[in-house]
Amino acid sequence: MERTFVMFKPDCIERGLLTKVMSRFEDKGLRLVALKMLRVTPELAKQHYAEHVEKPFYPSLESFITAAPVVAAIYEGLEVVRVVRDMLGATSGLKAVAGTIRGDFSASRQMNLVHASDSAESAAREIGIYFTPAEIVEWEPRVDDMLRAGDEG
Ligand code: CMP
Repeated sequence: MERTFVMFKPDCIERGLLTKVMSRFEDKGLRLVALKMLRVTPELAKQHYAEHVEKPFYPSLESFITAAPVVAAIYEGLEVVRVVRDMLGATSGLKAVAGTIRGDFSASRQMNLVHASDSAESAAREIGIYFTPAEIVEWEPRVDDMLRAGDEG
């Protein structure tokens, strides 16, 4: 089982798309193990987006990500980092194919609704920024027996 960090961004909350987008992950059978609403501060934004801080678009990204609350989550599943990235689609909603979350709901490069970790290493780092171990709930959904065979992982 792998974990990934997901953040439903201010545009997702402001546009009232939170439950619609979260339901995609529920429908896929991903296991939710942590969830909270928070406001990203400029300091937190710099920590989360450390690799982008020097990029020309960073000031705009920071003002967007701090503009309204976000909802942070951790999902568990087999190959969940790749699975969630595939479900989101390309970074830009203009390029993301129809059927993906961004392809269906976003027409922007910046306001792309959801952030998800791009590797297991990023997931561990981002989970550590947003959650304490006590906020993560370990559980084994009963329905898992109907989601995959025991020898699949
Ligand atoms: P995310 O997956 O959260 O990772 C970094 C974010 O920066 C990205 O989604 C976009 O919201 C934003 N971003 C990436 N590239 C650009 C860009 N060229 N211009 C503006 N925003 C960008």
